[in-house]
Parts: sequence; structure tokens; C-alpha cells
Amino acid sequence: MAKETKRVLMTGAAGQIGSELAEALRKKYGRDNVLVTDLVRPPAALAEAGPFELADVTDRAALDGLIARFGADTIYHLAALLSATGEKNPQKAWAVNMNGLHNVLEIGRARGLVRIFSPSSIAVFGPATPREMTPQDTVLSPTTIYGVTKVAGELLCDYYVRKYGLDVRGCRYPGIISHQTRPGGGTTDYAVAIFYDAVKNGRYTCFLREDTRLPMMYMPDCLKCTLDLMDADFARLKHHSSFNVTAMSFSAGELAAEIRKHIPAFEVRYEPDFRQAIADSWPASIDDSAARAEWGWKPDYDLAAMTKDMLAALRNRQAAGTLGG
Ligand code: NAD
Ligand code: SER
Repeated sequence: MAKETKRVLMTGAAGQIGSELAEALRKKYGRDNVLVTDLVRPPAALAEAGPFELADVTDRAALDGLIARFGADTIYHLAALLSATGEKNPQKAWAVNMNGLHNVLEIGRARGLVRIFSPSSIAVFGPATPREMTPQDTVLSPTTIYGVTKVAGELLCDYYVRKYGLDVRGCRYPGIISHQTRPGGGTTDYAVAIFYDAVKNGRYTCFLREDTRLPMMYMPDCLKCTLDLMDADFARLKHHSSFNVTAMSFSAGELAAEIRKHIPAFEVRYEPDFRQAIADSWPASIDDSAARAEWGWKPDYDLAAMTKDMLAALRNRQAAGTLGG
């Protein structure tokens, strides 16, 4: 019988995904059974809606102390530096992404934790990887420090599964689109910023070229994907920390055209910066058949459904005066 998660500690809970995953986990396990942590304090709505502690994932003793005191049996490890931020400070990206993950895995091993979630990314792929319908098992030779840490992270997680029998799981998220917490410094961030600027100003300057096509996923699917993978039967999993997952692929121009169906006067200018080279090194579309076969992954949102929902949510926030400047 697989051991069940009863008490969760989450790192990186103030971030784009962590902030919404924290809410989903509190709903699933009970608010007092989920300790959310981050280097920075999230907005009061999150920090005060259940247990919260400041924690630096590079400080193993502090993290271990929190886990011991809270009695956490499962970790959702979301703290990381993303692709664009990582290129600005590769040394810090390595320290946070690798030392943070190693600390989490070592604590998991030493304490015999039930399960660990550690997300990977489409950034594990590089220019030598097939760009269309990128296979599950293929060339992993990224050109960003973020991608290097994600490949090493996947290998490290799988090592802990094999060597210590630790139950570690993760998927290669594509670009995640959401309307609650702004993204934290990735190359796919344009696909969120474009919605905010469309609603606020009716125009957007995009840091990627119009024809740049990348795999993406809407936040409700990201949450479903994460929770379903963590609930999957371990015995059915052939992969562990590296599942390809996707929901849609579109170019910046195709996204702008979809938004124009709702805001006909919406204007976009394209001024590619250093993030173009990162995007050019990543897949345009992903083959996620292993995730579908091994744990039943299936997304609900396509480009049209996501765009409609994003615009409605941001217009509601605008009407409520919470959209920001
Ligand atoms: P984010 O940048 O929005 O949030 C990361 C959080 O980590 C931030 O709140 C930050 O304060 C925190 N953090 C940074 N350094 C820390 C440290 N030393 N100790 C503790 N916390 C620290 O990132 P996100 O988009 O929520 O991503 C979460 C995970 O998902 C990451 O592993 C990321 O690589 C992965 N991922 C995200 C996307 C995406 O599109 N958002 C895509 C692929 C993979
Ligand atoms: N959205 C992430 C980034 O752009 C992909 O991992 O960095």
C-alpha cells in the first residue's frame, strides 16, 4: 500500500505557480496541513490564509528544522530561478536550483518522506533536440544555465528514486499562463504580460518575434497536472521526474490574433531581446504521450478557451481595481 500524504511543506510559494498551488493543496489537505514557505513574504491573502514561514532553500538546516517541527511528510519544491533571471546571474541560478533541490532530496532521504514534487521544464531541451513533437526521451543539451540545472535536477531526482527508493516526481512544465501572480523572470512570460497590456492599454511590445512558437499551458491545467501526477500509482510510472506535458502551442502572432477576436483594436509591436535566443533553443511542440499513458494526463484548455478565460478574469480584476499599474 502506498503511503499517503498528510502534511505538506511547499517552497517557492510566493511565485507564479506556488501561489496557486498553495491554495489547491490547502483545499485538498486542509489549510492547517500545508506549510507554505518562500524567501519573500507573499501577499497577505496567501500568507495569512494558513501556516507560512520565511525559508531559504539553500539553508538545509533551516529547511530541515521547519519540516521536523511541522511534521511534513511531503514536499512540493517550487523555489527556483527561471530562464531569463538565470542568464543574468548564472552562479545564483546554480546555487538556488541545484543546492536547493539537493537539500530537499537529502532531507527527503534522511527523513523517509512519503513523496517529493520537483518540477522540470521545457528548458531541458536545446538546439540539437527535435523541435516539433519533441519526444519524451531525446537529446538533452540546453544552452541556458536554467536548462542545465533542470537536466541535472531531473537526473538527481531519478538517482534518488533508484538509489534510495525515494518517491520523487516531476514534469517538464511548458510556459504557464495565469492571472493571479505575475511570472518571475522566464522566457514565456510574454504570454502573460500580453494579456495585462491588452486589457490595460490595448497595445503590447513583445520581446519575442511574431513567429516564435512555444508550448504552453493554462494554470488550471498546471494545477491538475501537478496534483494528478502526485496521486498517480507509483507502480505504473516508468518515468519519474521528467514527464513531458503540454496543452497547446502557439506563436506570439497567433496569440495576438486570438486576443484580437475579443479586443479588435489590440496592437502588438515586436522588439526581440536576449530572450529570443532562449526561445529559439526550445521546442515548438511537445509529445506528452508518456504522461498520458502512465498517469492519464489530459489538458482541458486550448488557446481559445484559455484566452477567453484570461481576458474575463483580468477584466474582473480591472473592474475591482486590483489589476495594478
Ligand atoms: P517564480 O519565479 O514565479 O517563483 C519562484 C519562487 O521561488 C519565488 O517566489 C522566489 O521568491 C522563490 N525563491 C527564489 N530563491 C529562493 C530561495 N533561495 N529560497 C526560497 N525561495 C526562493 O517561479 P514559478 O513560475 O512559480 O516556477 C515554479 C517552478 O516551476 C520552478 O521550478 C520553475 O522552474 C518551474 N517551471 C515554471 C514554469 C512557468 O512557466 N512558470 C515553466 C516551467 C517550469
Ligand atoms: N516558463 C519558463 C521560463 O520561461 C520555462 O521553464 O523560464
